[in-house]
This record gives sequence, structure tokens and C-alpha cells, in this order.
Amino acid sequence: MTATVTIREGRPEDSAALVALLAQLFAIEAEFAIDPAAQARGLDLLRSRADAMILVAESDGFVVGMCTVQLTASTARGGLSAGVEDVVVDQPYRGRGIGRALLAAAEAWARRRGAVRIALLADETNLRALDFYDRLGVTRTRLVWLAKALD
Ligand SMILES: CC(C)(COP(=O)(O)OP(=O)(O)OC[C@H]1O[C@@H](n2cnc3c(N)ncnc32)[C@H](O)[C@@H]1OP(=O)(O)O)[C@@H](O)C(=O)NCCC(=O)NCCS
Repeated sequence: MTATVTIREGRPEDSAALVALLAQLFAIEAEFAIDPAAQARGLDLLRSRADAMILVAESDGFVVGMCTVQLTASTARGGLSAGVEDVVVDQPYRGRGIGRALLAAAEAWARRRGAVRIALLADETNLRALDFYDRLGVTRTRLVWLAKALD
């Protein structure tokens, strides 16, 4: 990682930059639509919760990457599981270790809160992301994500 990149907690004033990063991510993931107002609301929700965190990578004052992490209870593990989402690094900054640093920070945050697992979803066609997670020791499961909209 370059010396100028720092990982820190997301702040309200990061919102526009984070919404732009999420647009890069959702352009890849066909499951999700780019909707800046919805993304801003989601970020506000995360910031309002004690069991969730937005992590931001900053380089020379610019937001260049992000991920989010939030806790749920796992009966399978009898402990807390940390769900990691919204992992994205601004295109020109990829391949410099920033994604790895964001995941390490999310893992450290989860461990500090007693979580026994991190879990995440990835588009099965996003082979680069799957390779990235493989390098980080995050392996595929046999589970399939099912969802039903309630609104
Ligand atoms: C996936 C993503 C977050 C990776 O971030 P990054 O900063 O480029 O990754 P890093 O430089 O930290 O790489 C970490 C490791 O993953 C590997 N890796 C990263 N991108 C890779 C790619 N495209 N193909 C294969 N391996 C890759 C690196 O080689 C590195 O391994 P090493 O440290 O053992 O050498 C970034 O490419 C991205 O934002 N992609 C678009 C959004 C996306 O797909 N997000 C994931 C949604 S599930």
C-alpha cells in the first residue's frame, strides 16, 4: 500500500464520494441498481448504528475506496457474524493493496467486537472480485442468496 493511503471511519461529508464509489460497484453487480438517493439513505442508516461501520480509504485528502461491515447473530457459530458489503476501490487506485487494507480493517473491527466470522456476497460473474477474496482467504460456500422485496 502507498504510504499516503489511510483507512478511517466514514464521515457524513464523505457521502457524495461514497455514493460515487457505490455507483462504480453497482455498475458491475447486476443485482443492484444505481440510485444515489437510496445509497445516501443506506449510508446514513449505517452511520446511525452502533453495530455497523463504514470504512473509508483516503489518499491525499480524496476518498479512494470503501467497505461497510455490520454485525448479526449466528446460531450456527453461537456468536456474532460480521457482514461485509460495499467493497470498492476507485478504478485508478486498484492493485495497490487498498482493497486488502480495507478488508483487514473490517476484520479487525469485527474481531474487536467479538465476531467469530466475516461473511459477504459477491456476484458469481465478478471473477476479479472472487480472485481478490480468494487471495484474502475468504472462500466460497454452497449457500445461494435469496431475497424478496418488501416495499
Ligand atoms: C475487488 C477490489 C475491491 C480489489 O481492490 P484492490 O485494491 O484492487 O485489491 P488489492 O490491490 O488490495 O489486492 C489484494 C489482493 O487481491 C489480488 N487481486 C486484486 N485484484 C485482482 C484481480 N483483478 N484479479 C486477480 N487478483 C486480484 C491482488 O493480486 C492482491 O493479492 P496479493 O496481495 O496476494 O498480491 C477492486 O478491484 C474493486 O473495487 N473492484 C470493483 C468493485 C468490486 O468488484 N468489488 C467487490 C464486490 S463483491
